[in-house]
Amino acid sequence: MAFNKVVVAGGGVLGAQIAYQAAYCGKDVTIWLRSESSIGRTQPKLDQLRVEYKNAIDLMNTPEGKNPANWCRGIANVDTFNAKECLEKSEKAYKSIKLELDLAKACKDADIVIESMAELQDEKIAFYKKLAPVLEEKTILVTNSSTLLPSTFAPYTGRADKYCSLHFANHIWKQNLVEVMAQDKTDKEVFSKVMDFGLEISMIPVPVLKEKGGYLLNSLLVPFLLCGMDLVANGVSDPESVDKAWKLGTGAPRGPFEIIDVVGLTTAYNIIEKYQKVPGLITPLLKKMMLPYSFKKIAAMLKEKIDAGKLGRNAGEGFYKY
Ligand SMILES: NC(=O)c1ccc[n+]([C@@H]2O[C@H](COP(=O)([O-])OP(=O)(O)OC[C@H]3O[C@@H](n4cnc5c(N)ncnc54)[C@H](O)[C@@H]3O)[C@@H](O)[C@H]2O)c1
Repeated sequence: MAFNKVVVAGGGVLGAQIAYQAAYCGKDVTIWLRSESSIGRTQPKLDQLRVEYKNAIDLMNTPEGKNPANWCRGIANVDTFNAKECLEKSEKAYKSIKLELDLAKACKDADIVIESMAELQDEKIAFYKKLAPVLEEKTILVTNSSTLLPSTFAPYTGRADKYCSLHFANHIWKQNLVEVMAQDKTDKEVFSKVMDFGLEISMIPVPVLKEKGGYLLNSLLVPFLLCGMDLVANGVSDPESVDKAWKLGTGAPRGPFEIIDVVGLTTAYNIIEKYQKVPGLITPLLKKMMLPYSFKKIAAMLKEKIDAGKLGRNAGEGFYKY
């Protein structure tokens, strides 16, 4: 049976997006926030999402919008798209989302609680301890954590069998991938219900059957970007040639440096620092291949550009000029 009542804990960048998308797909959505000042930070994010959805729908209603690069799969399928209906759905979603400070009240009758709080292990544990006694028997619990493993939190949830990861990508109405990752206590039926929930909110779910730092996407993407930067930072070649080699050799649309320019150099810099520490993301083999001084050289290469304001495509220049 489909989930109806959805609670999102945390109304930051991703929490607001998940809440909006679930409401857009007709779910009864409540965002739990810890304080009045959090409400003051979350409401403008929802206001902004209302504008983002409208702009996306307007663009999808033009020939240019039909281009797969512009199409927002979380909003509609190309063959059944009706702009008026989509705008109505978005307005209804915007008006329906509830913001709640009382955790027990927020979680009453919840089918699923999606934890999307800041990436701070101790604060997440404190939250799960507070949450466990107020959840009803039926409620399934998931985390949207990007770098922390669900087994770290499962013992504090009071329902390890009903707990797994549901990891979204930023801009979920367009990048509508969700990675559903089990920990060793997750019940198979619960896992499959969470996969179904992904479909119910117009995401495309992929299963990650074993715990793996970085899930599927970042397990591929982070080492790929690091290897590209390693080639340039060590003077083996230049960004254009690395990208050319990758694109011509595989038929992929973008090379690592084009991707970094889109993601932004500051994010890439943070990834070097942060993702290196995610257990199991960068395998021992890769660590051995990329001697530790390579990471330092890569960081220095990025820092030089960041300091010069070359932050990526949005800034007009990164590894390329736009
Ligand atoms: N930003 C992304 O691109 C992205 C993508 C996928 C997953 N994630 C994951 O989503 C989660 C949230 O990320 P975000 O980018 O939305 O962060 P954010 O900083 O924008 O928002 C964090 C939210 O958590 C709340 N919060 C922080 N500490 C809290 C506490 N102790 N108690 C209650 N609420 C608290 C904040 O008030 C805020 O609403 C993280 O686990 C992150 O790894 C982020």
